[in-house]
Amino acid sequence: MTGTTRFNFDAVISRQGTHSEKWDGRQQQFGNANICPLWVADMDFASPPCVVEALQARALHPIYGYTQHPSSLFSAVIGWLERRHHWQITQDWILMVPGVVTALHAAALALVPENAGIIVQPPVYFPFFSSVTKTQRKLLLNPLQLQNGHYTIDFAQLKQLAPEAHMIVLCSPHNPVGRVWQKFELLQLLRIAKHHNLLIFSDDIHADLILPGHQHQMLAALVTDPDCAEFAEFINTNVITAVAPSKTFNIPGLSLSSLIVPNPELRKKLQNTLGLLHIGIFNPFSIAACEAAYTHGDDWLDALMLYLNNTKHRVADYLIKNLPQIKLIEPQGTYLLWLDCRALNLDDKQLQRFFIEDCGLGLSPGVIFGEAGQGFMRLNMGAPQSLIMEALDKVAAALQKLGG
Ligand SMILES: Cc1ncc(COP(=O)(O)O)c(C=O)c1O
Repeated sequence: MTGTTRFNFDAVISRQGTHSEKWDGRQQQFGNANICPLWVADMDFASPPCVVEALQARALHPIYGYTQHPSSLFSAVIGWLERRHHWQITQDWILMVPGVVTALHAAALALVPENAGIIVQPPVYFPFFSSVTKTQRKLLLNPLQLQNGHYTIDFAQLKQLAPEAHMIVLCSPHNPVGRVWQKFELLQLLRIAKHHNLLIFSDDIHADLILPGHQHQMLAALVTDPDCAEFAEFINTNVITAVAPSKTFNIPGLSLSSLIVPNPELRKKLQNTLGLLHIGIFNPFSIAACEAAYTHGDDWLDALMLYLNNTKHRVADYLIKNLPQIKLIEPQGTYLLWLDCRALNLDDKQLQRFFIEDCGLGLSPGVIFGEAGQGFMRLNMGAPQSLIMEALDKVAAALQKLGG
């Protein structure tokens, strides 16, 4: 076991045969059922014991009917946001939704008129694009800038796009580049958004996965920051925040997330759109797991982040020593590593082929996150370190074979 923790993140647990998308979907995704899967964003760690116990306890009752959301569930969400993110919210602000992507599509439909602009910042989690295009809204791209291995928001270009836009979708922290946005950056965003009266959809699904040395600032939590007094009213009227225990506690298959919407008018519109489709959020297991995780999961999460930080360091050292052609964009949050493979001089098809066929690995091709991801690959490090280091050995061996 790595480090002094009562949770064993080194345990290798086979997920094969559990219908896991990441493991059992390999043939379909990569045309090869034997590759080591480092793609879809869930982790190969057991969920926290408090979650497993809550699910087992609920399973013991043999009737699994439509389930209400108890006030203890809302208290757990409120308590978590206050404890971990210093954000005070009230129960009536919370809309339970099955997933953040569902919520994003609902927000586009409910809050943005057809053909009106929505700004997204590639390279970015790809459903951000489809939430705009599939709902017949106008996709406005504000690509991040990469300088000396560090990504930032292009505020000058954002200012130019803003007059055409109705909403901006912020990925905070950012998947796939791993940035944890700082207060000064959020303030700049707020200034532009307020000037143009933009709605902001802040997807904070990775907010709990912050690597040591970094601090996540929820945009909406700036409402009580004395430096942000000029934005307080705007935040409460225009910002919607999506949070979830799914990535944090490795329970994305359970499907329960929260949209925090202080503005009652926006909330009503969202409720109408979600209600129109009668989207189910009555699952007794997701409710039990979410409440347990947010109530008792702190220690597990703290231990997880130490483990992931150690993994990150091991990967970074390995790349410098053995694979200098591949550069790690230093992650500040998430368990997703953004690898700059441009020095391999392969086009995107060749790069994918190299990882799948020569290395036997299933990573996410950077190009699926937009053109700005060309030449990059995303590696999911949410797995025991033995598996990650073995994967790197495979890349080194394959490159050696190529004479690289
Ligand atoms: C930024 C971001 N938002 C949303 C999701 C998925 O959310 P959900 O499964 O709740 O729809 C992911 C999953 O990787 C993500 O990275």
